Amino acid sequence: MSKSTLDKMRAEALLGGGEKRIDAQHKKGKLTARERLHFLMDEGSFEEIGAFVRHRSTDFGLDKQKILGDGVVTGYGTINGRLVYVFSQDFTVFGGSLAEAHASKICRIMDLAMKNGAPVIGLNDSGGARIQEGVVSLGGYADIFYRNTMASGVIPQLSAIMGPCAGGAVYSPAITDFILMVENISYMFVTGPNVVKTVTHEEVTSEELGGTSTHSTKSGVTHFACANEIECLDNLKTLLSYIPQNCEEDPPELEYKTNKSEKRPELNGIVPENSNQPYDIRDVITETVDADSFFEVQKDFAENIVVGFSRLAGKSIGIIANQPAYLAGVLDINSSKKAARFVRFCDAFNVPLLVFEDVPGFLPGTDQEWNAIITNGAKLLYAFCEATVPRVTVITRKAYGGAYDVMNSKHIGADMNFAWPGAEIAVMGAKGAAEIIFKKEIRDAKDSAKKLIEKEKEYKEIFANPYRAAARGYIDEIIKPEQTREKLIAAFDMLKNKVDTLPKKKHGNIPL
Ligand code: HXC
Repeated sequence: MSKSTLDKMRAEALLGGGEKRIDAQHKKGKLTARERLHFLMDEGSFEEIGAFVRHRSTDFGLDKQKILGDGVVTGYGTINGRLVYVFSQDFTVFGGSLAEAHASKICRIMDLAMKNGAPVIGLNDSGGARIQEGVVSLGGYADIFYRNTMASGVIPQLSAIMGPCAGGAVYSPAITDFILMVENISYMFVTGPNVVKTVTHEEVTSEELGGTSTHSTKSGVTHFACANEIECLDNLKTLLSYIPQNCEEDPPELEYKTNKSEKRPELNGIVPENSNQPYDIRDVITETVDADSFFEVQKDFAENIVVGFSRLAGKSIGIIANQPAYLAGVLDINSSKKAARFVRFCDAFNVPLLVFEDVPGFLPGTDQEWNAIITNGAKLLYAFCEATVPRVTVITRKAYGGAYDVMNSKHIGADMNFAWPGAEIAVMGAKGAAEIIFKKEIRDAKDSAKKLIEKEKEYKEIFANPYRAAARGYIDEIIKPEQTREKLIAAFDMLKNKVDTLPKKKHGNIPL
């Protein structure tokens, strides 16, 4: 073929579904597949693979519509100098719908990513299975699901949803490690509003059913709700900065040098005197970690637990923290699931775990019991138990009941456990405990209310402190809040060469 043919084809491939559809994409306030790659990748680093791939279908007039690239731009390049593989679905070509050729291009870069140990990023914008191609579209999806599963825990997989993601298309992102969505542009659902109306007679809009705010607050399907596409692409880059290329590498480390003190006196004043008063655990986190390094995950879902990546003396860590400012930091179904998944990601990819604990226990009630708080709470317990990365806990206030065990206690494999002097480590809160163990005495007293207060105080003095736990060695050291940062830097540094393995097995059976 002559050079002009190549140039012509290249130009044609760059246009995807053509100017008209590109304009329509822009009118919807959306970037095109290639514009997204331009903002995501290091300048000039993107190398395309398969730009001239076309489908082989002939049904429903498809033989007259063979568009170069078949609706997905695939390739590799760098983000902040690190190799990544990417696919970006092109809505201007058959609505970004997926069929045989489109799927095979995605599989090709996934296979390369696995062999070369680098992350895969998917920019999804698709009407789902290409209806004209029938079962080969379904086969194409399944080929991707299989690879997503094989790659899980081997290389990081990140999914940005930048348009529709409907039907079976949702299951590839769901298997990947993180999902990012864009306000007013993304939506994800297994069955759309029309089918919902037919089957359940519910009237619901796409946005209500599967928009960004739905999945960031109600379902927890998405990990990041982004205000616009650029923020979404920036979040992908930030996320990558905390995680390694693959499960055999450590996360990138920033150089850290300081001649300033690592004491943080501001930490002394965060927890209120009255242990029933709330405070924002994020104040403890941000005061402890490197400046501006806390990157929160699933911020608006299950707000009674806060999880996210951060850095301590330049090293990447994963933080799991009960949030006393929301439902008193109680553990429930959603917070257990949220934290368990985060713990497992960090453990799979060698990100050490830091836990801030202030938990009054598990949330009581029929709603929780009937929806299996037993099974779901066990997820978090299981996730911590099998984590082999360095694990450190700081008890800032309450550590009650089963939640004490679950939140990275010494007994389930934590490496270093600290408590602040005001910590209350006990089977249950002092009032409840006094009501049970001194029931008769309180009932028979002349002034029962006074007796209860007296007994509550007695129980508190004996158990609602960290010294009993420290005497047993369950707590390694009781530290002043202001010492937290320096103690954690020392502990994680001490643990940096930790090697721990699980018993030989095919795989465990986490309570799903
Ligand atoms: C083929 C499709 C398509 C699809 C959209 N298009 N979806 N072509 N297969 N699945 C085409 C349209 O025909 C149109 O072509 C162009 O893409 C843009 O679509 P519009 O409808 O004009 O855009 P918009 O109004 O923005 O609506 C987008 C949409 C809608 C909401 C995604 O197109 C839609 O509902 N599509 C069908 C969604 C769906 O039911 N998918 C199958 C799900 S089942 P022209 O030529 O006019 O530009 C599934 C099973 C997978 O995915 C199971 C795997 C396990």
